[in-house]
Amino acid sequence: MAVVGAPAPVLAADPTYFADVLPLVRDRCLPCHDVGGVAALDLVDVDVASPFAGRMAQQTAAGLMPPFPPDPACADYREHAARSLTPAEIDLVRAWADAGAPAGDPTDALPPRLPPPDPLGPPDDLLTPDSAFVFDADDPDIYWCTRFDPDLDDPRHVVAAHVHPDNDALVHHVIVFRERGGAQRDPVGSPGFPCPGAPEDGEFLVGWAPGSAPVVLPDGYGLPLGPDDALVMQVHYHAQPGAEPTDRSSVALWYASAPIEREVMVMWTGSFEIFVPPGTSRTVEGECVLPGDDAIELVGIAPHMHRIGTSIRARLDRVDGGESCLVDVPRWDFDWQGSYTYVEPIVARPGDRIHTTCEYQNDGEQTVGWGEGSDDEMCFAFHLVAAPAGFPEHCFATAPDEPVAACGCAGGDGPGAGLFALAGVLVRRRRRRPGAVEG
Ligand code: HEC
Repeated sequence: MAVVGAPAPVLAADPTYFADVLPLVRDRCLPCHDVGGVAALDLVDVDVASPFAGRMAQQTAAGLMPPFPPDPACADYREHAARSLTPAEIDLVRAWADAGAPAGDPTDALPPRLPPPDPLGPPDDLLTPDSAFVFDADDPDIYWCTRFDPDLDDPRHVVAAHVHPDNDALVHHVIVFRERGGAQRDPVGSPGFPCPGAPEDGEFLVGWAPGSAPVVLPDGYGLPLGPDDALVMQVHYHAQPGAEPTDRSSVALWYASAPIEREVMVMWTGSFEIFVPPGTSRTVEGECVLPGDDAIELVGIAPHMHRIGTSIRARLDRVDGGESCLVDVPRWDFDWQGSYTYVEPIVARPGDRIHTTCEYQNDGEQTVGWGEGSDDEMCFAFHLVAAPAGFPEHCFATAPDEPVAACGCAGGDGPGAGLFALAGVLVRRRRRRPGAVEG
């Protein structure tokens, strides 16, 4: 399955905005840099873009734009491959800036932005509410859920998913959860129900925020979805000035057409031992060990902390002495969360340990400890894992030298178990600088 991304353009001799830069901007920058987008700079407008040509060249060359919170030197992520610019694209922006950022001929311009292409052709299912949600202007933030019964006769495997936001001046972010046995629950369908926080028993399936690419699992991998399971789409509405008050966002799903070789599930590592008094910084670490006799594959990762987190890392310490970096977010930002799938799944063997490190800085007046509120803290790495039959015996175990439980499986016990299954969410706040952007 190909990594989603635009083909590399050929470097033109005398690049102009309309002929060369706009197509690239449209594919790679407009999800955020459109009129009313998350970033203030409306790069779709040549008069805005041209004076910023030097900054565009500098930010793209430095890897700061498009933003990608994890350090790409840690591991190869599919989402980074899909989002980042090729060296030829970076050179093109530089060549255009060096030439004085010429506009060129407007008739060279491509038609306005098209929605990103679906990764695997037409979806097998497009879950769409029967009626539009109508936003109440008195309420600045609304979390609204719609429960869908995908109406499956037999168990299927989801291999790719993509959220289609309908009104992106209203939609702040979208998270889709798998709800085990949820097809029996009420209400199903429109008009939905208010749902701050995550739905109970909801496992994170896919998320959307500006710039999110469709999630595509590696070939042969799939996430099980049973006839009794429901999907719950949670939309965070936060209107931008002048936004139309209605929305009908939908979720596209692709099911495996051939038998799945490896089912994926969720395990988590981290720590509950969080205690950060006012005016202090703290480092929290947790270690988990893979028991049993079988190797597993780490397919993806979603690091998670709350507002006073400053950095998070996870690494695999191998029993044979080797080490693999799994994720390293050097400047954590609660509003730019993501989950990332590895270009090549990483094999972990019995006895291997996953070490998770979270750092916090508490500038507030209250001590912060572990909790589910967004003013409490968390330290989790959610791992999307392919394990042989026999789960959950193969779930990570807390390392013998750890004082408290630091690991678990989806469907197992413990807070946070069951969240984040297959994902790609970037939660954002309008006109806020992502942690990865400097200067
Ligand atoms: C996922 C969202 C996202 C994408 C995609 C993205 N940007 Fe940005 N960009 C931002 C945000 C947020 C800011 C912060 C600006 C603000 O405060 O509005 C920013 C700022 C910038 C700045 C100003 C930086 C400065 O400090 O002067 C430039 C230039 C820029 N982006 C260029 C680009 C280019 C070129 C692309 C495409 C190749 C791109 N960005 C893609 C979100 C994005």
